[in-house]
Amino acid sequence: MLVCYLTDEPGKIPAIRAALEPRYSVVPRVLGQEPVFAPSGVLMVDADLRQPTCVEQIRHVMADLKTVSERLFVVHRHLHHLMAQAFALGATEVVHNARQAAAKLTQVEAAMRAAETGSEHAPNWITDCGKAFGSMFSAIGQRNAIHLADAETVTAQIVASISQNGLSGWLDNVRKYHEGTFQHCLLVTGIAVAFALDIKFGPQDVKRLGMAATLHDIGKARIPLSILDKPGRLASNEEDIMKQHPLIGYDLLKDIPGISTETLDAVKHHHEYLDGSGYPDALTASEISDLVRLLTISDIFAALIESRPYRVAMPREEAYNILCGMTGKLETSLLKAFRRTALAT
Ligand SMILES: [Fe+2]
Ligand SMILES: [Fe+2]
Repeated sequence: MLVCYLTDEPGKIPAIRAALEPRYSVVPRVLGQEPVFAPSGVLMVDADLRQPTCVEQIRHVMADLKTVSERLFVVHRHLHHLMAQAFALGATEVVHNARQAAAKLTQVEAAMRAAETGSEHAPNWITDCGKAFGSMFSAIGQRNAIHLADAETVTAQIVASISQNGLSGWLDNVRKYHEGTFQHCLLVTGIAVAFALDIKFGPQDVKRLGMAATLHDIGKARIPLSILDKPGRLASNEEDIMKQHPLIGYDLLKDIPGISTETLDAVKHHHEYLDGSGYPDALTASEISDLVRLLTISDIFAALIESRPYRVAMPREEAYNILCGMTGKLETSLLKAFRRTALAT
């Protein structure tokens, strides 16, 4: 479950992460500095309600977050007189410390699971991921800036889901509720995150790979749908246009404050192969980073097992065998390690 943690003191973030992760996926936001998104999970507000500026900033943020059903405020015990202020600002629950917050999160999570069981609707987290991709792609369509917060939301949500429920449920849900490029990006990220967890990456490295996967095909937002969604093979001129998406993605992202160089590298180079036969730069082995190697394997595998209206999804074993047959292009030791992720039930 995703927890958006809103605070006025960045120094509090490591402690809350230590208390809640890895069970919950914490997305920290500093009040007044970064845009806050509406998670399907929980909004947790931990700020000094004695400060009028702080209260005003929270009031402003809460006006946009009315749809978040669980709004947990942390009010320290010796300041219990501020509880009324917390409820006036929209709290649905007040806790006094991280331990109580963790206990409340357990209850919320159980209630959400119960609500989703047997429901015919897409789970909230699947809907949230679709919305965040929709927001990024429409920003590009309208020539607006992409919010990295959208990519972080998707990534955190996927890490939370895969850590708790494994890869298979994720793949089934994504293929059931999403189509085309969104489906592909969600599958790639889920597979990359599961791969990273299987090879025992730490939380920060899982997030690094997840962010690169979430954004890897963002350049496709500028490729005409007639090419992007064309059933069957592309003509050679269409293929040339399609092959521009890594560079387009790189250009769209390169000036965004806070974007990492490794994410940019992954966006630009996820179609490179170790033998130099990839594009756009025909890089060879020593020029391709480990992160990109992991992403490329996840990307090809995801493309093979996608569900399309005109094509039945390929079984995972068959897809894995195709990867193993790409001699010289993908790193053999990583492919061996990927077997577990690819075939996990
Ligand atoms: Fe791509
Ligand atoms: Fe891709």
